[in-house]
Amino acid sequence: MEGLHVTDATYHLEKLELMIEDPYTGVIYIDNHCRVIYLNQTLANILEIDKSESIGKPIEAIMPRSRLPETIKSGESNLCEICSIKGRKMVAMRAPIYDKGQIVGAMSKSLFLDMSTAINMASYFSSPDSGDAEIHPINSGYKTRYTLDNIIGSSSTISKPKAISKQVANNISNVLIIGESGTGKELFAQAIHNAGTRRIAPFVRINCACIPENLLESELFGYEEGAFSGAKKGGKKGKLEMAAHGTIFLDEISEMPLAMQSKLLIFLQEREFERVGGSHTITADVRVIAATNVNLEEAVLQGKFREDLYFRLNVVTLMLPPLRDRSEDIPLLVNHFMDKLSRKLNTPRFEVDCDALSLLKSYKWPGNIRELENLLERAINLACIDNESTIRQHHFPTLIENNVEQNLDPNINLPLNKALENLEHQMIIRSLKYCNDNKTLAAKMLDIHPSVLYRKLKKYNL
Ligand SMILES: Nc1ncnc2c1ncn2[C@@H]1O[C@H](COP(=O)(O)OP(=O)(O)OP(=O)(O)O)[C@@H](O)[C@H]1O
Ligand SMILES: [Mg+2]
Repeated sequence: MEGLHVTDATYHLEKLELMIEDPYTGVIYIDNHCRVIYLNQTLANILEIDKSESIGKPIEAIMPRSRLPETIKSGESNLCEICSIKGRKMVAMRAPIYDKGQIVGAMSKSLFLDMSTAINMASYFSSPDSGDAEIHPINSGYKTRYTLDNIIGSSSTISKPKAISKQVANNISNVLIIGESGTGKELFAQAIHNAGTRRIAPFVRINCACIPENLLESELFGYEEGAFSGAKKGGKKGKLEMAAHGTIFLDEISEMPLAMQSKLLIFLQEREFERVGGSHTITADVRVIAATNVNLEEAVLQGKFREDLYFRLNVVTLMLPPLRDRSEDIPLLVNHFMDKLSRKLNTPRFEVDCDALSLLKSYKWPGNIRELENLLERAINLACIDNESTIRQHHFPTLIENNVEQNLDPNINLPLNKALENLEHQMIIRSLKYCNDNKTLAAKMLDIHPSVLYRKLKKYNL
């Protein structure tokens, strides 16, 4: 027989109450006389009624268009239908409740309180890629590219944030990602989203630094028709609504104006908001991940960032190390990017020789991983021009120049003869580069005899 079988409805309902009071699901039970036995607070909010006062009332009194009386009559379940409550469309299921073979009531439960999630889900499952949930979240407008597997590195400084990301992927705790430019903040944000059940819902990004202050509120919370001059007919959803059941990534959070910080704080506390110019409250099941490359504690001290918001966001913290602090990961990263770039540039796969790798490991990387990838791409192009299949130090001309400067740094902790040797080595490479590998010209430039240059080339294995 179809439907739910319970021997003692009251007992079971008590046990289930905690589970039923879910802010993202509307639930109602009626008895076989179509009187309300129970409804949860979420549905009471949607119906704009007092929960306790509705218990015992006929269902028609609170939901005149409910089809639950039909369920009592027919005894048939309907596992997915679209219904409309107070002008709000949602997807719900209804089923009869049996006790010892008799219908004693019926229940209805929303599957999606928000049609956009249902539509996204439907389009996802009808797309040819639907088997590949790892890399194709359902909302095509908000695709993500990265998973935890795409985060390269085995150093402890990168393994720790990876482990934390995995651990928190399935909860809703706010995450704050802190790291210099190009350290992988967006990569981690996407990877957290894709590591949990939220991956089938949208990942929506908003860059707080790029949106003018007066537009940020409506971008985030949406607006109602007529909220301001130029507002679209019918209003517009904000990014929070678009991210329903998924993740919102608040990039460059330090740039959020103070007035917006207060509004965001209220959302983080209540998990509810109103559209600009709107009067009804919207509940949003959205995981918030914020990122910054600015020291927020300092921003708090300077009065630029609300302390309470900082604490609210900083529930789970990921500190992403700069590349210069994890040089042991450079060979792995180089390997990864050589594969990636050979596909992108449609070239054979290049090798990077030991000296070039040491150069990469000793560089101070202000631009981090993005800079590494760019330099490797440039080096491949230079090697192609030279008709070489191996990347060598001179394919990183900017690093060599930089290294010369670093080697001149009076603080460098090396014995003088070693420091001079390094400097000599780099200057020879640089002059060869400037002279297009013409040794006679390079010797002239260095003001040494060509035979001395040849001796030194041998010494440095150049
Ligand atoms: N651990 C990693 N493994 C592989 N690729 C990485 C890693 N970290 C970063 N990247 C790559 O480096 C680039 C920069 O990463 P991302 O955009 O996530 O950095 P970001 O911290 O958000 O930078 P910004 O502050 O400039 O916005 C991307 O192409 C990303 O794929
Ligand atoms: Mg970024």
